[in-house]
Amino acid sequence: MAVPILGRTNFFSGAAGEIKVAVVGCGGRGTGAAVQALSSKQNVKIVALADAFNDRLENCYSALNGELAERGLKESEIKAKVDVPESRRFVGFDAYQKAMPFADVVILATPPGFRPMHFEEAVKLGKHVFMEKPVAVDPAGVKKVLDAAAIAKQKKLNVVVGLQRRYQTSYRELFKRKELIGDLISGQVWWNNPGVWMKKREPQQTEMEYQMRNWYYFNWLCGDHILEQHIHNIDVMNGFKGDFPVRAQGMGGRQVRTGKEYGEIYDHHYVEFMYADGTMMNSQCRHIPGTMTKVDELLVGAKGRIFCGEAAIRDNKGKELYRFDKKQDNAPFQNEHDELFAAIANGEHKFNNAEYGAKSTLTAVMGRMATYSGQVIDADKTLASGINIMPKEYSWTAMPPTVPNADGFYPIAMPGKTKYF
Ligand SMILES: NC(=O)c1ccc[n+]([C@@H]2O[C@H](COP(=O)([O-])OP(=O)(O)OC[C@H]3O[C@@H](n4cnc5c(N)ncnc54)[C@H](O)[C@@H]3O)[C@@H](O)[C@H]2O)c1
Repeated sequence: MAVPILGRTNFFSGAAGEIKVAVVGCGGRGTGAAVQALSSKQNVKIVALADAFNDRLENCYSALNGELAERGLKESEIKAKVDVPESRRFVGFDAYQKAMPFADVVILATPPGFRPMHFEEAVKLGKHVFMEKPVAVDPAGVKKVLDAAAIAKQKKLNVVVGLQRRYQTSYRELFKRKELIGDLISGQVWWNNPGVWMKKREPQQTEMEYQMRNWYYFNWLCGDHILEQHIHNIDVMNGFKGDFPVRAQGMGGRQVRTGKEYGEIYDHHYVEFMYADGTMMNSQCRHIPGTMTKVDELLVGAKGRIFCGEAAIRDNKGKELYRFDKKQDNAPFQNEHDELFAAIANGEHKFNNAEYGAKSTLTAVMGRMATYSGQVIDADKTLASGINIMPKEYSWTAMPPTVPNADGFYPIAMPGKTKYF
Protein backbone atom coordinates (compact mmCIF):
# COMPACT_ATOMS: atom_id res chain seq x y z
CA MET A 1 0.00 0.00 0.00
CA ALA A 2 1.48 3.35 -1.00
CA VAL A 3 1.80 5.70 1.95
CA PRO A 4 2.86 9.12 0.77
CA ILE A 5 4.68 10.13 3.96
CA LEU A 6 4.74 13.76 2.95
CA GLY A 7 1.17 13.70 1.76
CA ARG A 8 2.05 14.26 -1.89
CA THR A 9 0.45 12.34 -4.71
CA ASN A 10 2.02 14.00 -7.74
CA PHE A 11 5.23 12.03 -7.70
CA PHE A 12 5.53 11.56 -11.45
CA SER A 13 3.73 14.63 -12.72
CA GLY A 14 6.79 16.77 -13.32
CA ALA A 15 8.29 18.38 -16.35
CA ALA A 16 10.01 16.12 -18.86
CA GLY A 17 13.54 17.40 -18.19
CA GLU A 18 15.32 15.26 -15.68
CA ILE A 19 17.07 17.00 -12.77
CA LYS A 20 19.94 14.93 -11.39
CA VAL A 21 20.79 15.18 -7.71
CA ALA A 22 23.83 14.17 -5.66
CA VAL A 23 23.56 13.93 -1.87
CA VAL A 24 26.62 14.86 0.16
CA GLY A 25 26.11 13.82 3.78
CA CYS A 26 23.64 10.94 3.80
CA GLY A 27 22.46 11.11 7.42
CA GLY A 28 19.07 12.09 8.79
CA ARG A 29 18.73 15.39 6.98
CA GLY A 30 20.48 14.38 3.77
CA THR A 31 18.10 11.44 3.44
CA GLY A 32 15.12 13.62 4.34
CA ALA A 33 16.13 16.28 1.83
CA ALA A 34 16.57 13.64 -0.88
CA VAL A 35 13.03 12.38 -0.21
CA GLN A 36 11.75 15.94 -0.39
CA ALA A 37 13.61 16.54 -3.66
CA LEU A 38 12.03 13.36 -5.08
CA SER A 39 8.63 14.53 -3.81
CA SER A 40 8.74 17.85 -5.66
CA LYS A 41 6.65 18.12 -8.82
CA GLN A 42 9.74 18.05 -11.02
CA ASN A 43 11.40 15.07 -12.61
CA VAL A 44 14.10 14.50 -9.99
CA LYS A 45 16.50 11.60 -9.96
CA ILE A 46 19.10 10.81 -7.27
CA VAL A 47 22.26 9.83 -9.14
CA ALA A 48 25.10 9.87 -6.60
CA LEU A 49 25.62 9.55 -2.86
CA ALA A 50 28.63 10.70 -0.83
CA ASP A 51 29.30 10.17 2.85
CA ALA A 52 32.29 9.96 5.14
CA PHE A 53 31.05 6.56 6.34
CA ASN A 54 29.89 3.58 4.31
CA ASP A 55 27.22 2.50 6.83
CA ARG A 56 25.58 5.93 6.74
CA LEU A 57 25.59 5.92 2.94
CA GLU A 58 24.11 2.43 2.67
CA ASN A 59 21.40 3.28 5.24
CA CYS A 60 20.45 6.28 3.14
CA TYR A 61 20.34 4.21 -0.06
CA SER A 62 18.10 1.63 1.64
CA ALA A 63 15.88 4.32 3.15
CA LEU A 64 15.33 6.01 -0.24
CA ASN A 65 14.50 2.70 -1.88
CA GLY A 66 12.22 1.77 1.04
CA GLU A 67 10.43 5.11 0.89
CA LEU A 68 9.62 4.67 -2.80
CA ALA A 69 8.61 1.03 -2.31
CA GLU A 70 6.20 2.15 0.41
CA ARG A 71 4.71 4.58 -2.06
CA GLY A 72 3.93 1.61 -4.29
CA LEU A 73 6.57 2.13 -6.99
CA LYS A 74 7.74 -0.96 -8.89
CA GLU A 75 11.40 -1.97 -8.75
CA SER A 76 12.14 -0.55 -12.21
CA GLU A 77 10.43 2.73 -11.31
CA ILE A 78 12.45 2.99 -8.11
CA LYS A 79 15.65 2.36 -10.03
CA ALA A 80 14.76 5.19 -12.37
CA LYS A 81 14.39 7.57 -9.40
CA VAL A 82 17.21 6.33 -7.15
CA ASP A 83 19.75 5.46 -9.81
CA VAL A 84 22.83 5.03 -7.65
CA PRO A 85 24.87 1.96 -8.60
CA GLU A 86 27.94 1.07 -6.51
CA SER A 87 30.05 3.07 -8.97
CA ARG A 88 28.27 6.28 -7.91
CA ARG A 89 28.42 5.68 -4.13
CA PHE A 90 31.44 7.45 -2.69
CA VAL A 91 32.87 7.16 0.80
CA GLY A 92 35.49 9.23 2.65
CA PHE A 93 36.54 12.84 3.09
CA ASP A 94 36.94 13.34 -0.67
CA ALA A 95 33.63 11.63 -1.58
CA TYR A 96 32.00 15.01 -2.33
CA GLN A 97 34.44 15.74 -5.15
CA LYS A 98 33.64 12.42 -6.78
CA ALA A 99 29.85 12.64 -6.47
CA MET A 100 29.18 16.24 -7.50
CA PRO A 101 30.19 16.01 -11.18
CA PHE A 102 27.28 13.61 -11.87
CA ALA A 103 24.61 16.06 -10.70
CA ASP A 104 22.75 19.23 -11.68
CA VAL A 105 21.86 19.91 -8.04
CA VAL A 106 23.75 18.98 -4.90
CA ILE A 107 22.26 18.51 -1.46
CA LEU A 108 24.83 19.45 1.20
CA ALA A 109 23.88 17.94 4.55
CA THR A 110 27.06 17.00 6.36
CA PRO A 111 27.87 18.52 9.75
CA PRO A 112 28.30 22.26 9.06
CA GLY A 113 32.09 22.46 9.43
CA PHE A 114 32.45 20.98 5.94
CA ARG A 115 29.82 23.19 4.31
CA PRO A 116 32.12 25.99 3.07
CA MET A 117 34.46 23.62 1.21
CA HIS A 118 31.54 21.63 -0.20
CA PHE A 119 29.64 24.75 -1.25
CA GLU A 120 32.75 26.24 -2.84
CA GLU A 121 33.25 23.05 -4.87
CA ALA A 122 29.59 22.93 -5.95
CA VAL A 123 29.73 26.53 -7.18
CA LYS A 124 33.04 25.92 -8.93
CA LEU A 125 31.40 23.04 -10.80
CA GLY A 126 28.33 25.17 -11.65
CA LYS A 127 25.79 23.19 -9.63
CA HIS A 128 22.54 24.38 -8.07
CA VAL A 129 22.56 23.82 -4.33
CA PHE A 130 20.30 22.93 -1.46
CA MET A 131 22.41 23.24 1.67
CA GLU A 132 21.50 22.81 5.27
CA LYS A 133 22.08 25.42 7.92
CA PRO A 134 24.40 26.51 9.43
CA VAL A 135 26.67 27.14 6.47
CA ALA A 136 29.94 27.33 8.43
CA VAL A 137 31.28 27.15 11.98
CA ASP A 138 33.91 29.91 11.99
CA PRO A 139 34.64 33.34 10.46
CA ALA A 140 36.92 31.90 7.75
CA GLY A 141 34.12 29.54 6.69
CA VAL A 142 31.57 32.35 6.59
CA LYS A 143 33.92 34.37 4.37
CA LYS A 144 34.38 31.41 2.03
CA VAL A 145 30.61 30.97 1.70
CA LEU A 146 30.08 34.70 1.06
CA ASP A 147 32.75 34.64 -1.67
CA ALA A 148 31.25 31.53 -3.27
CA ALA A 149 27.75 33.03 -2.97
CA ALA A 150 28.88 36.00 -5.06
CA ILE A 151 30.16 33.64 -7.76
CA ALA A 152 26.94 31.56 -7.57
CA LYS A 153 25.01 34.75 -8.26
CA GLN A 154 27.15 35.57 -11.30
CA LYS A 155 26.69 32.02 -12.57
CA LYS A 156 22.92 32.26 -11.92
CA LEU A 157 22.92 29.18 -9.72
CA ASN A 158 19.94 28.70 -7.44
CA VAL A 159 20.99 28.25 -3.83
CA VAL A 160 18.49 27.39 -1.10
CA VAL A 161 19.56 27.21 2.55
CA GLY A 162 17.61 25.07 5.02
CA LEU A 163 16.47 27.93 7.24
CA GLN A 164 12.98 26.65 6.62
CA ARG A 165 11.02 29.30 8.52
CA ARG A 166 11.67 31.50 5.49
CA TYR A 167 9.73 28.91 3.46
CA GLN A 168 6.91 28.54 5.98
CA THR A 169 3.55 30.14 5.19
CA SER A 170 2.83 31.35 8.76
CA TYR A 171 6.14 33.24 8.90
CA ARG A 172 5.65 34.63 5.40
CA GLU A 173 2.16 35.89 6.30
CA LEU A 174 3.49 37.55 9.48
CA PHE A 175 6.32 39.09 7.48
CA LYS A 176 3.86 40.61 4.97
CA ARG A 177 2.17 42.38 7.90
CA LYS A 178 5.25 43.45 9.84
CA GLU A 179 4.40 47.14 9.45
CA LEU A 180 1.49 46.56 11.87
CA ILE A 181 4.01 46.73 14.74
CA GLY A 182 5.83 49.82 13.47
CA ASP A 183 9.62 49.96 13.69
CA LEU A 184 11.14 46.76 15.03
CA ILE A 185 13.01 47.82 18.18
CA SER A 186 13.85 44.56 19.91
CA GLY A 187 13.33 40.83 19.84
CA GLN A 188 13.51 37.76 22.05
CA VAL A 189 14.55 34.48 20.50
CA TRP A 190 14.69 31.09 22.21
CA TRP A 191 15.86 27.54 21.55
CA ASN A 192 15.56 25.90 24.95
CA ASN A 193 15.11 22.15 25.10
CA PRO A 194 16.61 19.05 26.75
CA GLY A 195 19.31 18.57 24.10
CA VAL A 196 20.18 16.04 21.41
CA TRP A 197 21.79 12.64 20.82
CA MET A 198 25.27 11.61 21.92
CA LYS A 199 27.38 8.81 20.39
CA LYS A 200 29.63 6.78 22.71
CA ARG A 201 33.29 6.26 21.90
CA GLU A 202 34.01 2.79 20.45
CA PRO A 203 37.31 1.12 21.34
CA GLN A 204 38.65 0.77 17.78
CA GLN A 205 37.97 4.38 16.77
CA THR A 206 40.69 6.88 16.02
CA GLU A 207 40.15 10.31 17.60
CA MET A 208 39.08 11.63 14.19
CA GLU A 209 36.49 8.89 13.69
CA TYR A 210 35.14 9.35 17.22
CA GLN A 211 34.66 13.09 16.71
CA MET A 212 33.11 12.57 13.29
CA ARG A 213 30.56 10.13 14.78
CA ASN A 214 29.90 12.30 17.86
CA TRP A 215 30.07 15.51 15.83
CA TYR A 216 27.55 17.55 17.78
CA TYR A 217 29.98 18.17 20.64
CA PHE A 218 32.95 19.52 18.66
CA ASN A 219 33.05 23.07 17.41
CA TRP A 220 34.98 22.42 14.21
CA LEU A 221 32.14 20.13 13.14
CA CYS A 222 29.07 21.65 14.80
CA GLY A 223 29.82 25.15 16.05
CA ASP A 224 27.93 24.61 19.36
CA HIS A 225 24.14 24.52 19.67
CA ILE A 226 23.85 28.32 19.64
CA LEU A 227 24.78 27.94 15.98
CA GLU A 228 23.55 24.46 15.04
CA GLN A 229 19.95 24.90 16.28
CA HIS A 230 19.45 28.43 17.56
CA ILE A 231 20.43 29.89 14.18
CA HIS A 232 16.82 29.26 13.12
CA ASN A 233 15.46 31.76 15.66
CA ILE A 234 18.32 34.23 15.19
CA ASP A 235 17.72 34.17 11.44
CA VAL A 236 14.01 34.96 11.94
CA MET A 237 14.89 38.19 13.75
CA ASN A 238 17.56 39.02 11.17
CA GLY A 239 15.05 38.37 8.39
CA PHE A 240 12.35 40.60 9.88
CA LYS A 241 14.92 43.28 10.66
CA GLY A 242 16.38 43.03 7.17
CA ASP A 243 19.79 43.44 8.75
CA PHE A 244 22.42 41.64 10.81
CA PRO A 245 23.83 42.50 14.26
CA VAL A 246 27.04 44.50 14.45
CA ARG A 247 27.93 43.53 18.02
CA ALA A 248 27.31 40.77 20.55
CA GLN A 249 28.01 40.22 24.22
CA GLY A 250 26.75 37.53 26.53
CA MET A 251 27.36 34.74 28.96
CA GLY A 252 27.08 30.98 29.06
CA GLY A 253 28.71 27.78 30.23
CA ARG A 254 28.24 24.07 30.88
CA GLN A 255 26.56 23.26 34.16
CA VAL A 256 24.89 19.92 33.52
CA ARG A 257 26.35 18.46 30.36
CA THR A 258 29.88 18.30 31.78
CA GLY A 259 31.01 14.73 30.90
CA LYS A 260 33.84 14.07 28.48
CA GLU A 261 31.34 12.49 26.09
CA TYR A 262 29.95 16.01 25.58
CA GLY A 263 33.16 17.28 24.05
CA GLU A 264 33.72 21.01 24.28
CA ILE A 265 30.38 22.74 23.73
CA TYR A 266 28.36 24.70 26.31
CA ASP A 267 24.89 23.72 27.51
CA HIS A 268 23.54 27.29 27.74
CA HIS A 269 24.14 30.71 26.19
CA TYR A 270 22.49 34.10 26.68
CA VAL A 271 23.48 36.82 24.24
CA GLU A 272 22.56 40.43 23.57
CA PHE A 273 22.96 41.23 19.91
CA MET A 274 22.89 44.83 18.74
CA TYR A 275 22.02 46.04 15.23
CA ALA A 276 23.54 49.19 13.73
CA ASP A 277 20.45 51.28 14.56
CA GLY A 278 20.48 50.19 18.22
CA THR A 279 17.82 47.48 17.89
CA MET A 280 18.48 44.68 20.37
CA MET A 281 17.95 40.94 20.02
CA ASN A 282 18.05 38.93 23.25
CA SER A 283 18.89 35.36 22.49
CA GLN A 284 18.82 32.37 24.79
CA CYS A 285 19.47 28.73 24.09
CA ARG A 286 19.76 25.87 26.54
CA HIS A 287 20.22 22.12 26.35
CA ILE A 288 19.31 21.05 29.90
CA PRO A 289 16.73 18.36 30.68
CA GLY A 290 14.05 19.26 33.20
CA THR A 291 14.00 22.98 32.32
CA MET A 292 11.48 25.08 30.40
CA THR A 293 11.23 24.09 26.75
CA LYS A 294 10.66 26.96 24.35
CA VAL A 295 11.59 27.35 20.69
CA ASP A 296 10.13 30.62 19.49
CA GLU A 297 10.59 34.26 18.51
CA LEU A 298 8.91 37.42 19.81
CA LEU A 299 9.44 40.56 17.74
CA VAL A 300 8.81 43.85 19.54
CA GLY A 301 7.90 46.95 17.55
CA ALA A 302 7.05 50.53 18.47
CA LYS A 303 3.32 49.84 17.99
CA GLY A 304 2.95 46.14 18.76
CA ARG A 305 4.39 42.65 18.81
CA ILE A 306 4.68 39.66 16.52
CA PHE A 307 4.35 36.31 18.32
CA CYS A 308 5.89 33.96 15.77
CA GLY A 309 5.11 30.61 17.42
CA GLU A 310 1.50 31.63 17.90
CA ALA A 311 1.45 33.24 14.44
CA ALA A 312 -0.31 36.29 15.88
CA ILE A 313 0.21 40.04 15.93
CA ARG A 314 -1.04 42.27 18.78
CA ASP A 315 -0.86 45.98 19.46
CA ASN A 316 0.79 47.33 22.61
CA LYS A 317 -2.49 47.10 24.52
CA GLY A 318 -2.82 43.40 23.68
CA LYS A 319 -5.51 43.77 20.99
CA GLU A 320 -5.13 41.12 18.33
CA LEU A 321 -4.43 42.66 14.93
CA TYR A 322 -3.83 39.47 12.95
CA ARG A 323 -3.78 35.71 13.45
CA PHE A 324 -2.75 33.07 10.93
CA ASP A 325 -4.72 29.84 11.15
CA LYS A 326 -1.91 27.39 11.87
CA LYS A 327 -4.01 24.52 10.54
CA GLN A 328 -3.38 26.11 7.13
CA ASP A 329 0.41 26.07 7.55
CA ASN A 330 2.52 24.30 4.94
CA ALA A 331 5.35 21.76 5.26
CA PRO A 332 8.33 24.12 4.97
CA PHE A 333 10.97 21.39 4.47
CA GLN A 334 9.00 20.23 1.43
CA ASN A 335 8.36 23.75 0.21
CA GLU A 336 12.11 24.51 0.11
CA HIS A 337 12.49 21.75 -2.47
CA ASP A 338 9.27 22.52 -4.34
CA GLU A 339 10.38 26.11 -4.90
CA LEU A 340 14.01 25.24 -5.67
CA PHE A 341 13.26 22.51 -8.20
CA ALA A 342 10.47 24.53 -9.84
CA ALA A 343 12.91 27.41 -10.39
CA ILE A 344 15.48 25.06 -11.89
CA ALA A 345 12.92 23.34 -14.13
CA ASN A 346 11.69 26.75 -15.35
CA GLY A 347 15.22 27.96 -16.02
CA GLU A 348 14.83 30.77 -13.48
CA HIS A 349 17.44 32.20 -11.15
CA LYS A 350 15.41 32.90 -8.03
CA PHE A 351 17.40 31.91 -4.95
CA ASN A 352 20.66 33.12 -3.49
CA ASN A 353 20.02 32.21 0.15
CA ALA A 354 23.73 31.62 0.79
CA GLU A 355 24.28 35.30 1.53
CA TYR A 356 21.74 35.60 4.35
CA GLY A 357 22.57 32.04 5.43
CA ALA A 358 26.22 33.07 5.83
CA LYS A 359 25.37 36.31 7.62
CA SER A 360 23.03 34.61 10.11
CA THR A 361 25.74 31.98 10.59
CA LEU A 362 28.13 34.82 11.43
CA THR A 363 25.62 36.22 13.94
CA ALA A 364 25.46 32.90 15.82
CA VAL A 365 29.25 32.43 15.62
CA MET A 366 29.63 35.90 17.17
CA GLY A 367 27.25 34.79 19.91
CA ARG A 368 29.42 31.76 20.66
CA MET A 369 32.58 33.88 20.68
CA ALA A 370 30.87 36.32 23.05
CA THR A 371 29.80 33.67 25.56
CA TYR A 372 33.11 31.81 25.36
CA SER A 373 35.21 34.95 25.91
CA GLY A 374 32.98 37.29 27.90
CA GLN A 375 34.14 40.03 25.51
CA VAL A 376 32.17 42.33 23.22
CA ILE A 377 32.40 40.81 19.73
CA ASP A 378 32.28 43.07 16.68
CA ALA A 379 30.87 41.67 13.42
CA ASP A 380 33.27 43.33 10.96
CA LYS A 381 36.28 42.45 13.06
CA THR A 382 35.07 38.87 13.39
CA LEU A 383 34.52 38.44 9.65
CA ALA A 384 37.89 40.02 8.85
CA SER A 385 39.68 37.95 11.52
CA GLY A 386 40.13 34.87 9.34
CA ILE A 387 39.67 32.72 12.47
CA ASN A 388 39.69 29.16 11.22
CA ILE A 389 38.95 26.25 13.57
CA MET A 390 39.00 23.48 10.96
CA PRO A 391 41.64 20.70 10.85
CA LYS A 392 44.72 21.12 8.67
CA GLU A 393 44.38 17.58 7.34
CA TYR A 394 41.39 15.30 6.71
CA SER A 395 42.13 11.62 7.24
CA TRP A 396 41.07 9.01 9.78
CA THR A 397 44.48 9.12 11.42
CA ALA A 398 44.90 12.92 11.40
CA MET A 399 44.45 14.74 14.71
CA PRO A 400 41.38 16.98 14.95
CA PRO A 401 41.95 20.54 16.15
CA THR A 402 40.72 19.77 19.67
CA VAL A 403 42.11 16.76 21.52
CA PRO A 404 41.39 15.27 24.95
CA ASN A 405 43.76 15.32 27.92
CA ALA A 406 45.03 12.13 29.57
CA ASP A 407 41.68 11.72 31.38
CA GLY A 408 39.72 12.09 28.15
CA PHE A 409 38.40 15.62 28.81
CA TYR A 410 38.52 18.34 26.18
CA PRO A 411 39.61 21.95 26.76
CA ILE A 412 36.56 24.14 27.49
CA ALA A 413 36.39 27.85 26.65
CA MET A 414 36.56 29.99 29.79
CA PRO A 415 35.22 33.58 29.86
CA GLY A 416 37.95 35.97 30.91
CA LYS A 417 40.65 33.58 29.71
CA THR A 418 39.48 32.69 26.19
CA LYS A 419 40.41 35.56 23.89
CA TYR A 420 39.89 36.11 20.18
CA PHE A 421 41.24 39.60 19.60
N1 LIG B 1 16.83 22.56 8.84
C1 LIG B 1 16.68 21.82 9.91
O1 LIG B 1 15.76 21.99 10.70
C2 LIG B 1 17.65 20.73 10.18
C3 LIG B 1 17.27 19.58 10.87
C4 LIG B 1 18.22 18.59 11.10
C5 LIG B 1 19.53 18.78 10.67
N2 LIG B 1 19.86 19.91 10.00
C6 LIG B 1 21.26 20.15 9.56
O2 LIG B 1 21.65 19.13 8.65
C7 LIG B 1 23.04 18.84 8.82
C8 LIG B 1 23.20 17.34 9.07
O3 LIG B 1 22.48 16.98 10.24
P1 LIG B 1 21.92 15.50 10.44
O4 LIG B 1 20.96 15.59 11.57
O5 LIG B 1 21.48 14.95 9.15
O6 LIG B 1 23.24 14.75 10.93
P2 LIG B 1 23.62 13.23 10.66
O7 LIG B 1 24.75 12.90 11.57
O8 LIG B 1 22.40 12.38 10.70
O9 LIG B 1 24.16 13.25 9.16
C9 LIG B 1 25.36 13.85 8.75
C10 LIG B 1 25.99 12.94 7.73
O10 LIG B 1 27.12 13.56 7.13
C11 LIG B 1 28.14 12.60 7.03
N3 LIG B 1 29.44 13.28 6.90
C12 LIG B 1 30.18 13.85 7.88
N4 LIG B 1 31.26 14.43 7.35
C13 LIG B 1 31.21 14.23 6.02
C14 LIG B 1 32.06 14.61 4.95
N5 LIG B 1 33.17 15.33 5.13
N6 LIG B 1 31.71 14.23 3.70
C15 LIG B 1 30.60 13.50 3.49
N7 LIG B 1 29.77 13.11 4.48
C16 LIG B 1 30.07 13.49 5.72
C17 LIG B 1 27.99 11.75 8.26
O11 LIG B 1 28.67 10.53 8.18
C18 LIG B 1 26.50 11.61 8.35
O12 LIG B 1 26.01 10.53 7.61
C19 LIG B 1 23.51 19.73 9.97
O13 LIG B 1 24.07 20.90 9.46
C20 LIG B 1 22.25 20.07 10.71
O14 LIG B 1 22.31 21.32 11.36
C21 LIG B 1 18.95 20.86 9.72
